Parts: sequence; structure tokens; C-alpha cells
Amino acid sequence: MTQPALSPRFTNAFAEAVHAGLSHRPQKELPSMYLYDEVGSALFEVITALPEYGVTRAEERVLTAHAADIVAALPKHVQVAELGSGSGRKTRRILEALCKKQPTDYYPIEISRTALQLCRRELGDIERISIVGYERDYLAGLAEVSARRRDGEVLLVLFLGSTIGNFSRLAATKFLQSIRGMLKPGDALLLGTDLLKPLPTLIAAYDDAIGVTAAFNLNLLARINRELGGDFPIDAFEHVARFNPDARSIEMHLRAKRPLTVTVRATDLRVEFREGETIWTESSHKYAAEEVAPIAADAGFGCTHQWRDDTWGFAESLLVAR
Ligand code: TRP
Repeated sequence: MTQPALSPRFTNAFAEAVHAGLSHRPQKELPSMYLYDEVGSALFEVITALPEYGVTRAEERVLTAHAADIVAALPKHVQVAELGSGSGRKTRRILEALCKKQPTDYYPIEISRTALQLCRRELGDIERISIVGYERDYLAGLAEVSARRRDGEVLLVLFLGSTIGNFSRLAATKFLQSIRGMLKPGDALLLGTDLLKPLPTLIAAYDDAIGVTAAFNLNLLARINRELGGDFPIDAFEHVARFNPDARSIEMHLRAKRPLTVTVRATDLRVEFREGETIWTESSHKYAAEEVAPIAADAGFGCTHQWRDDTWGFAESLLVAR
């Protein structure tokens, strides 16, 4: 049987990222944004419902309890851009409270088309909302949203969940600086951060008993097989979640259980794995609530409010561009 042609080489960013990441020495890596294809996005939705993963419920509690306070702390009229809207379920709380006060333009920015569709379905029925989705990465999407607004319009950027935690502390500050670079003084950023908590709780959140997080992580290899003509034997890899005390992060890896060679046709790639060798797929950095304000200050924001969920350990911070 003839194989479908997958060249020219690097016709897409995914192929390019896989080639670079799997060639990286000494630690092989894959960018976590590619976890969220249709299967991955569906699995992540399941993760948010797992008893071990308290992040999403904690944020929902904060947003439910404080939606009115959050809206009251904002400038008079804002347009809303959201970086990584996911299904939109959490955002509903804020948008409902906001739409009571003002008609609201809402711009979800998502690399996952599935998530954008879910989010439109979830939020489309809110009265006085207008939704325009951007299928882009965060900064490209925000640049477009920011460029199309008129003088005097104030932007509220939502960066919820614990996505900021997926950057190293240094990269998080740089990312906030990039966001700040697209904003005007008085624009706001609502930022979710998952807080440091006892180790067993942290680890379980990223290594649940029924293996959904493992499947979510392993799907990345299956996606390479599906989309790029890879031949990863999925059952030869296992999901690993471990705490890195220096970085204060949970690191997710995929570990080869035996020595093997993998090829990925679309990128002309052939990679060897030693037994026990890992591919690093994601890190989730955890914060102390007091850490947010100084990081925000480094990026040109003032932290004017913070709302916390102490049951799980989660903070929602309102940062205003200076
Ligand atoms: N941003 C989420 C977090 O860090 C994503 C996530 C949850 C995740 N579980 C995961 C990413 C497992 C990779 C592997 O909390």
C-alpha cells in the first residue's frame, strides 16, 4: 500500500514543533499547546470534573461568589478578550454579571476550534452579548482585538484557569509584559493562579486514579501518529507527574518503558529513546498568593484586587495596566 504524501517538509507548525522538540538535547520536549486537539480538549473537560483536579471548581467558586465585586471593580464600560476560553463555562459568571450592566463584546481567543465552538454554544444565549471568536494563539489574537478597538474603549483581558502556571516564572513575567505591550493604561487583566499546596494534593491533581490525565498526556503521541504519520507505540510510554521544588512546578512527562526508535514521516524524523527517557510535555507552576502583585508590577500592572478560594487554594487577581 502506498503511503499518502506528507511532504513538503514542515507544511505546518505542529510538524515543525515536533521536529524541534524531539530533537532537543538532553531533554526531549513537546509544546503543551498541542495537547488540545479535539480528543485532548474533550479529555481536558473530563479532567476539570475529576475529584483530584480542584483547580476549575475552585475558580468557579471564586467567580460565582465574587462576580459582582469583580464587575464593580472594573472601569465603566469594557470589552472582553479571553486568552484560552476553553468551554466558556467559568467565563459565564463574569459575562452574565457584566451584561447586566452593559452590552458586552466578547472575543474568545483559542487555538482549539473545538473549544471555540463549545464556548459559542455555552455563552451565546447570554443577553446583550456579542461573541467574535479568534482562532489564533494568545498574543496574535490579542494584537488583533486590541488593534480593532476605537479610541476610549477599555479592554478587560481574561487569563483564567492556571494557564499562566504553564510558563516558567521568568517566562510568565515576559508574557505579562507582552500582554501589557498591547494594552493601554487603565485596561485590566483578570489573572487566575493555582496556589502552592501540600505535595500529595498537587501530584494527584496531575496523576488521577482513573488515568484521564495520563490519557490526556498520551494523546499527544497519538496525535503525532494521526496527523504526522508517526509510529509511536503508545503502550510503550507512561505518564509521569513530578514536583520540581526549585521551579515550584509540577512537571508532566511521557516516559519510554523500554528502548525504542520512533519515526515521524511528516518531519523525516527518526528518534531513539533509552529505557526511562522522557519527553517533557508541560509544567504547571504554583504560586503563593503574595507573589502575584510583584510579578504584575514587573510587567507594568498594579494588582488592585485579589479574590481567593481557600478550600482548594486558588487566587483570581485583578491587574490594571499602569
Ligand atoms: N493548565 C492546566 C494546568 O496546568 C492544564 C493541565 C491540567 C494539564 N492537567 C494537565 C496539562 C496534565 C498537561 C498535563 O493545571
